[in-house]
This record gives sequence, structure tokens and C-alpha cells, in this order.
Amino acid sequence: MGTRITGVGSYVPRHRMSNADLEKIVETSDEWIVRRTGIRTRYHLENDEDPAIMGIEAGKVALERAGVLPEAVDLLMVATNFSDMICPGSAPFIAEGLGFDQTPFFDLKAGCSGFVYGLAVGDGLVRSGLYQRVLLVGTEALSRVTDWSDRKTCVLFGDGAGAAVLESGDDGEGILGSALFGDNSKAMLLHLPAGGTRTPASHETIDAHGHYLKMEGGGVYRSAVAMMRRATRAALKAARLRLEDVDWLIPHQANIRIIDSLVKHLKFDRERVIVNLDRVANTSTASIPIALDEALHDGRINRGDVVALTAFGAGATYGAVVLRI
Ligand code: ACO
Repeated sequence: MGTRITGVGSYVPRHRMSNADLEKIVETSDEWIVRRTGIRTRYHLENDEDPAIMGIEAGKVALERAGVLPEAVDLLMVATNFSDMICPGSAPFIAEGLGFDQTPFFDLKAGCSGFVYGLAVGDGLVRSGLYQRVLLVGTEALSRVTDWSDRKTCVLFGDGAGAAVLESGDDGEGILGSALFGDNSKAMLLHLPAGGTRTPASHETIDAHGHYLKMEGGGVYRSAVAMMRRATRAALKAARLRLEDVDWLIPHQANIRIIDSLVKHLKFDRERVIVNLDRVANTSTASIPIALDEALHDGRINRGDVVALTAFGAGATYGAVVLRI
């Protein structure tokens, strides 16, 4: 038994924000942002847009491409860090928009590695025989938790969603191996301090900007390469493959310097690395499925190709999945 990926879709909001637009909000420059991160533009929800629309649209496309009707989906998993509401999360709103009726759903919170975690969890559920068809959505409305007065973070993030349909298949196709890790000593590198049960919302937390994402950029930067390298190697081992067998590598799209360093350490061909962060920036759990969708549909990734996906994120979580398209 195996788990095939039968459809992939993605969505980014219409409103595009360039580095020049950011120069009008905080003290920054296109030159600094491009040199330090590789990012040129990102897409953000308008103030009156419902964040669920992103996951719904990505999910619809993935289902259409898989030829799967909403009523045939056995489970919806939504990987996200910043749910539409703390309770009941994001999944029920996406399920409603997709027209699901009594289909089980849940949010999966595992930092920016959420989509990779979701693939591994979905693979286990499909292989076990519990479910035949799982819809996995990665969606993130980061603009809604961005501190627009903090130049160290506000230039990095974009909004978006990606989705994949997982269906039972034969051994040797689809997901070939995965490896998940967690380093709880790095829990505070990336966090949103207030609004949870540890520090509930109050006037003080609002005054202190406690409802915005905080990041220790240097700490994240120093850990990211080693984490993704370890995870990629472990997932390849689980798949009984070597790096030379990999046709395409899709790393989490956080920073071009992190990606370049990973590729150098792995000694992987840079031409076979999918990068789109220059256009969409870091979309957290949506970053890998958006990049996968683009590369599948512009003809770079073809049927039969072996693709390695690897991510790191808040928690700190990290992981990798190797699959044959
Ligand atoms: N524009 C201009 N100057 C800036 C900006 C900005 N937007 N941001 C910071 N600076 C300044 C700083 O104030 C500092 O100035 P100083 O030397 O006078 O104090 C200088 O630039 C250098 O700042 P650093 O923070 O040291 O810059 P660094 O080279 O580390 O780059 C960055 C910062 C881009 C955030 C980098 O650390 C990074 O990419 N880290 C990883 C981030 C990441 O991957 N996050 C996502 C992880 S999880 C997830 O995906 C949600």
C-alpha cells in the first residue's frame, strides 16, 4: 500500500505588495530586502477579505485536478499556525466553503513544517486503511499577525494557501518516505506571545503588540540549514533512496540565503531547486504546496519525478517528505 498525490492546487490573494510599497511603511529598502532575503513581492489579503477563501480556493483546485468530488473526501486536515479563530480553528470554515457534509476535519499546528507534517500524518492514515482520500490544505494569513512597525519581520511574510489530495495507491508511488523532528529548546525563536491561554488578551497585551509574530531571525537562520539537511537525509533513508535519485528539491521558502546554504551543504544541483520566494515571500505552511503547484503546472516537475520537500518552523519543528509524482 502507498499514498499517491493525485491533485495539487494553490491560491494567493490579488493584492500584491512590492518592496517599494514597504519602503513607504517602515525604514527599509528594496536593496536590503533583496540582498538579505531574496524577496521582491508578496501577496496580502485585503482588510475585508475572509482568510478562509484561500484554503477553499486551493482545495477546490486540488480536488478538481484529482477528479475527486467533495463528498468522496474522507478527511480534511488544515495545516495552519494562525487559524481564522483560536476556536474552532480554520478547518470548519474551509470544510463549509468546499461543501463538505459531516466530513471530519481538524487543524494541524506544526509551524512552517505543517504541510510536511500533514503529508506524513495523511500518509499514515491512508496506509493504515482508515481513510481512502484525504484533503490536506496549508493556509496562512500572515499579514493579519504581522507587526507593521517591525521592519525585521514585516518584510518577510506573504499570505497564501496550497492543497493536495492524498489517495491510496500502490507501494512505490506517491509518498516514498518521510522524517519528522522537533526541537523544543527552540520554542521561543518564533512565537506570538499573547491571546493564548498562557497570556490571554488584555489592554496591556494589545499595547505591548503581543498579538503579533515575534522572531529571533538570527537564531532561526542558524538552525534552519542543519535542520533541513538532517530531515532530507532521514527522509531519503526512509525511502531507501540517495540524493542522486532526487529530481527536484522544494525547501520551505523562507530566505534565499538559507536555501542556497542548504543546497551547498547537500551538494545538490541548484538548477533543480524550486524557488518562488522572490514573488510570494514566506507563506509558512503554504510555501511548499504553492511552489509544488507552480512547478507541476509550468512543466518543470513531471510524472515519475522524485521530489524532496523539506521545511523548518516554529516549535521548532522540522521534517522532510520524499515522493514520486
Ligand atoms: N530593512 C533595513 N534594515 C533592516 C531590516 C529591514 N527590513 N531589518 C533589519 N534591518 C537592520 C537591523 O536593524 C540591523 O541593523 P543594525 O546592524 O544597525 O542593528 C541590520 O539590518 C542587520 O540585521 P540582522 O537581523 O542581523 O540581519 P540578518 O542578516 O540576520 O537578516 C533576516 C535578518 C533576514 C530576518 C535573517 O535573520 C533571516 O532570514 N532569518 C531567518 C528568518 C526565517 O527563516 N524566518 C522564518 C522561519 S519560520 C517561518 O517560516 C514562519
